[in-house]
Amino acid sequence: MQVRSVCLLGGSGFVGSRIAHALAQHGTQVRVLTRRRESARHLLVLPTVDVIQANAFDAATLEKHFRGTDAVINLVGILRERRRGDFQRVHTQLPQTVVTALQRAGVRRFLHMSALPAARDAPSAYLRSKGEAEIAIKNTRGEVAITMFRPSVIFGPGDSFLNLFASVIRFVPVVALACPNARFQPVYVDDVARAFVDSIANPATFGETYNLCGPQTYTLRQLIELVCRTLGTRRPIIGLNNTLSYLQAMVMEFAPFSLMTRDNYRSMQVPCVCDGAFPQVFGFAPTALENVIGDYIGSGPRAPYQAFRARAGRNPI
Ligand SMILES: NC(=O)c1ccc[n+]([C@@H]2O[C@H](COP(=O)([O-])OP(=O)(O)OC[C@H]3O[C@@H](n4cnc5c(N)ncnc54)[C@H](OP(=O)(O)O)[C@@H]3O)[C@@H](O)[C@H]2O)c1
Repeated sequence: MQVRSVCLLGGSGFVGSRIAHALAQHGTQVRVLTRRRESARHLLVLPTVDVIQANAFDAATLEKHFRGTDAVINLVGILRERRRGDFQRVHTQLPQTVVTALQRAGVRRFLHMSALPAARDAPSAYLRSKGEAEIAIKNTRGEVAITMFRPSVIFGPGDSFLNLFASVIRFVPVVALACPNARFQPVYVDDVARAFVDSIANPATFGETYNLCGPQTYTLRQLIELVCRTLGTRRPIIGLNNTLSYLQAMVMEFAPFSLMTRDNYRSMQVPCVCDGAFPQVFGFAPTALENVIGDYIGSGPRAPYQAFRARAGRNPI
């Protein structure tokens, strides 16, 4: 399969921007659909990338922009709901609209971003909405070659996970940590981007779903300790029990700047780790967090604000 052009939904975001860069490096034409052209401004310098303001929820609009492309990648996602039902709308309904539109436009290749450990019966609305989308996409009839990706938490420059911890650690004398024993297997953003790009034209990946994890698992407490070491800071870490973790999430949910929600708390009740190794089909070993974290956490005068920018949907500076 020859892939010369790709339409990218969610291309302005943390992962999408790296995929857009990787595709541009291969000389692939990329159409990035965004709600606000301004949020994808940083991609305009890439010679093969076009940024188009469009309503991704409108099937006819999607069909128009999909026409003439060889593949569609959907990365659209949110971590918290502004209004009740947003997870369903963004994670479950939108991918189905995308599939319908790409079939009408005659596109034969679709790559979809889900999340580990999404499932229809998962404890959080975030994971359930992603799990329902996976089932709906798997039931797609027709001749579309589909590949789905289920990463653990993703780290790298501009992430809103470790950068967020770094920002908080700077401002507090003691860390009161919800869900200290929650387990993660963080995966590097450029490894995720590479898996997407390598799979686009590789028939071995058609019809497959891949869990993507880094080489090592960590508890949340171990991640905070690693961030502290990277920052060269010591902070006492007080692990909260389940009740206090839930209460902290509830209080934060109503704070003007939401760092955590009860739905995030529920997501953390399930280990976000892989059963097996990084998928062999991609032919590379995933990057260790320790090899990269020092390059982007805590460096530069604007570092304290990176996580807040990421949470506000703005790009790293
Ligand atoms: N980051 C992680 O640790 C992680 C882990 C597992 C899975 N994932 C999944 O990976 C995908 C990308 O994550 P990310 O970290 O790159 O997220 P991100 O930086 O927040 O980017 C999300 C993208 O989704 C688009 N978007 C958000 N809400 C939208 C809406 N209502 N309508 C249309 N577009 C909307 C935004 O595009 P515009 O603002 O340009 O319209 C943005 O480019 C998501 O599906 C996420 O669930 C992420």
